[in-house]
Amino acid sequence: MRLALGADHAGFELKEHLRHWLEAQGHTVSDLGTHSPDSTDYPDYAAAVAQEVARGVADRGLLVCGTGVGMAIAANKIPGIRAAALNTTYATELARRHNDINVLALGAREVAVPLAEALTKSFLATAYEGGRHQRRIDKISQLERPS
Ligand code: RB5
Repeated sequence: MRLALGADHAGFELKEHLRHWLEAQGHTVSDLGTHSPDSTDYPDYAAAVAQEVARGVADRGLLVCGTGVGMAIAANKIPGIRAAALNTTYATELARRHNDINVLALGAREVAVPLAEALTKSFLATAYEGGRHQRRIDKISQLERPS
């Protein structure tokens, strides 16, 4: 897959690990920063990753901050993005099967490396079910349009 990856200072170290881990599996990774542990602002990276996914340059996006929460809030401002901050494999699998999330936000301060890998694996490997869920996704898309 073509993946866009981004993190703030809190997520920098985990993002670096995930980039190597994903590339070793054959994914094409576009690392949009941050490129050092210096303090920075998560919305900048959320926007960069979300825009690559929304434009179709990347198939999926992966964001890392302290909790994943700020990244998910910011990424969801970009039309076409369905981002979620997740820390269980159960919710991550359902977020793909039912919600068709295209951006996963991880919290480096609450998720250790093995769990981050498991969540990412579930995010990338689980297919969207479609069917009755598409009606609901369409309703979410409608919320992006001014009434
Ligand atoms: C940075 O300290 C922290 O607020 C940020 O990484 C993230 O957790 C925000 O949601």
